[in-house]
Amino acid sequence: MTKYVIRGGKPLYGAVEISGAKNAAVAILPAALLVDGVCRIENVPQISDVTLILNILQELGADVRTINRTTVEIDCSHIRNAMVPDALARKIRASYYFIGAMLGRFGSAQVALPGGCDFGGRPIDLHIKGFASMGADVDVKGGIISAQAAGGHMVGTTVYMDMSSVGATMNVMLAAVLAEGTTVIENAAKEPHIVDLANFLNSMGASIMGAGTDVIKIRGVASLSGGSYSIIPDQIEAGTYMAAVTATGGEVLIKNVIPKHLECITAKLVEMGAEVEELDDAVLVRRSRPLERTNIKTLPYPGFPTDMQPQVAACLCLAQGTSVLTEGVWDNRYRYVDEFRRMGAQIQVDGKIAVIEGVPQLTGAAVEACDLRAGAALVIAGLAAQGTTEISQVRHIERGYEDIVRKLSGIGADIRVVVTPDEVKAAQVG
Ligand code: EPZ
Repeated sequence: MTKYVIRGGKPLYGAVEISGAKNAAVAILPAALLVDGVCRIENVPQISDVTLILNILQELGADVRTINRTTVEIDCSHIRNAMVPDALARKIRASYYFIGAMLGRFGSAQVALPGGCDFGGRPIDLHIKGFASMGADVDVKGGIISAQAAGGHMVGTTVYMDMSSVGATMNVMLAAVLAEGTTVIENAAKEPHIVDLANFLNSMGASIMGAGTDVIKIRGVASLSGGSYSIIPDQIEAGTYMAAVTATGGEVLIKNVIPKHLECITAKLVEMGAEVEELDDAVLVRRSRPLERTNIKTLPYPGFPTDMQPQVAACLCLAQGTSVLTEGVWDNRYRYVDEFRRMGAQIQVDGKIAVIEGVPQLTGAAVEACDLRAGAALVIAGLAAQGTTEISQVRHIERGYEDIVRKLSGIGADIRVVVTPDEVKAAQVG
């Protein structure tokens, strides 16, 4: 088994480079399926979720060429309208983008139900409602989502999102770019990765207006041609490193970011005592004063992102006073709290609310990552704790953080990867 072993209690100093945005990449790569030609996509993060999406594209017959560490070329000219199997689809949430892309390209889709982090319910009713309103019959049977557009192609219409769902907004966009007529998404989600998907599709010849606002208009076009596109930097990866230096103290230059995307995170970290200096494509974060309590509620963009909730909780565990954290997006995103308690955190959870009593210090312990951002939060807690923390189930972390051990080591963290004997033996046999 692979673990991260961290010797904490050291402030972080130096500079770290942010990679391409995971939640943009996992939508933009399936969107290449809509393009009749070669898409060159740059600033692709080297993470296991992206590897999986590229595997699915290859399974469907796409020609995927790795140009360099962060650039791929994808040619879907000869892609097949085949099923995305359970063995691949269930590994991540974003596999459901193949439904919208296949409906858009072929007018039909068969994709096994998605997986992804467990936050209580993760329904896809808004996705299905969107596809149905565009003329598709959608059926979920035996773990497979089957969708068939009446007349063989999607038809533009107005889709009202009961909640501003990131996934459903992007999926309807994918189904609409080649549809007959115009689609209007009302109450659309506004996250940076939604704008990035729209910009990618427009660079390939789509006609999408209003992405980033709550009304997105997509005028169907006959086809999309190839082109080049570079994915935006990852807002949440950047926020995670900002939270790390806020928790440990020190000074870190976080490079290759869009400061505007970080405003909601910056505001809260500054309330807690961090100093954040915004540069053109970087932020300089330092924390030398004692951490102060604050209250945070996670909300859809431009509110404080739910994907930063566990990471900022790690900071609040060390803040003087009592903080109240409210999870405004997911039913249950506190599964990591028991692991924090092993390190001496004082947290009480009641439904969507966590009350955090700051403690003078956390103590290193053996802990287990239960999902992507919870794992990142345990890394932050380990960096700030006195003593040694061993984190297992690190595969969750590696789904969304490129080279996290190298990047943290580069800013002074004492963190290393340890592969335990059972894995070594298996490797020898293999
Ligand atoms: C995306 O998930 C992200 N994942 C999540 O990030 C992120 O937490 C979430 O957006 C919110 O920002 C990817 O982009 C791959 P939603 P998604 O649809 O699209 C409800 C990470 O850490 N809902 O915006 O699944 C849903 O239950 C991951 O990178 C429905 O009720 O989120 C939730 O309460 C974790 N019906 C709310 O809407 C639906 O059909 C927001 O979900 C869809 C969603």
